[in-house]
Amino acid sequence: MRKIASITLTMALLGTVAAFGQASADKQAREALMRANNTAMRALMPLTTAFDAAAVKAQGQILVDNGTKMVAQYAAGTDQADTGVTPAVWTDAAGFKAAADKFTADAAKVGAATDGPSLQVALTAVNADCGGCHRTYRAAPAGRGARGPAPAAPPPAQ
Ligand code: HEC
Repeated sequence: MRKIASITLTMALLGTVAAFGQASADKQAREALMRANNTAMRALMPLTTAFDAAAVKAQGQILVDNGTKMVAQYAAGTDQADTGVTPAVWTDAAGFKAAADKFTADAAKVGAATDGPSLQVALTAVNADCGGCHRTYRAAPAGRGARGPAPAAPPPAQ
């Protein structure tokens, strides 16, 4: 009896998640990818002064992989009611793709950096791509500033 009750409860909860989350499963995936971008940038910044080629390559690859996934995450059939996104993602899909492609190309240069200074140059370019895309395609999250939290701070000057 108890087991049945708990199964019923679990199913009710799952039903709620499905009803609430169906449209926002795309949003959850988008946010998870973006948070992974942020984590990679934070891991990369200290490497401008403590250069580690293997770590730079690995984190750079994460950014490249994320860049190649971005466009599909916002494809026409995905959640267009996502409150975190401006309608420009779909009204200007070519511009969004260009922003994602530029990010991916610049992220590849991160992985190819050979020392602290070249990594810093590459990170500065990627960071500008984060902010550039956010300005046009990311909506202000409720209760936050005009553009929400800033992307990872630029790497420190050497
Ligand atoms: C091509 C466009 C584009 C690029 C490039 C981009 N972002 Fe985003 N980012 C977005 C959009 C759109 C959202 C809003 C997603 C949503 O709410 O569904 C977002 C949201 C975020 C969020 C909030 C996630 C959350 O949990 O709400 C963070 C953090 C973030 N981006 C970090 C970054 C960082 C760091 C970079 C660069 C390394 C980056 N983004 C590059 C478009 C982009």
